[in-house]
Amino acid sequence: LENQTIPLKDLEKKIAAEEAVKYIKDNTIVGLGTGSTAYYAILAIADLVKNGLNIQGVPTSEKTASLALSLGIKLIDLKEVDAIDVTIDGADEFTSDLNLIKGGGGALFREKIVASLTKTEIIIADSAKKVDRLGKFKIPVEVEPLAYNYVNQQIIKLSGKGALRKNGEEIYLTDNHNYIIDADFGLIDEPEVLSGSLNQIEGVLAHGLFINLTSIVIMGKGQEILTFNKS
Ligand code: 5RP
Repeated sequence: LENQTIPLKDLEKKIAAEEAVKYIKDNTIVGLGTGSTAYYAILAIADLVKNGLNIQGVPTSEKTASLALSLGIKLIDLKEVDAIDVTIDGADEFTSDLNLIKGGGGALFREKIVASLTKTEIIIADSAKKVDRLGKFKIPVEVEPLAYNYVNQQIIKLSGKGALRKNGEEIYLTDNHNYIIDADFGLIDEPEVLSGSLNQIEGVLAHGLFINLTSIVIMGKGQEILTFNKS
């Protein structure tokens, strides 16, 4: 895509993605994110592969897996990797201390496992994703369907409000056939504490607070690229 023909938000995503792929080295394992920002990274990685780069991609969703395969990127199953060199993924919100909310696209469980196995987790974002405090975006919580009512009650006990994610009339199902509760806790003072509390609820498989998992955020702002590192 030529840069002149795409909307500003997409341009920001694209330039961030093109900067991020510079961190990928030959003969490495690369985590492939999910969403409209990660999409640009996958396109850029496919270009590098066409030019001879040898990598194995670990997809964070079925959608990403089929996109990557259609573009000629070799894949390796998450079950078969014990470390990932670099992952490039998007986020719904990030703060300058590199904590995130992810999972708007529903891929949070695999994204979190991939991020946890990753040496250098790079988040790419347009400028609307940077916030002073996390929490305007509701926190996706992936739950085993049988645990739905229980988890919802526990979210209320933590002073949150949960809404079961729907896809039209149908209940939304993740790639792992689970439900997502989008939980509203308002603006969050202590994301680490809330993350710990959510982790302790039986039936929660993953939630969208990504704490201390990110090495670098690369954000497009207009034509500029801003990089945020772990301080
Ligand atoms: C998917 C995610 C995405 O990275 C997040 O929702 C951002 O998506 P987009 O790049 O389309 O704004 O976490 O589960």
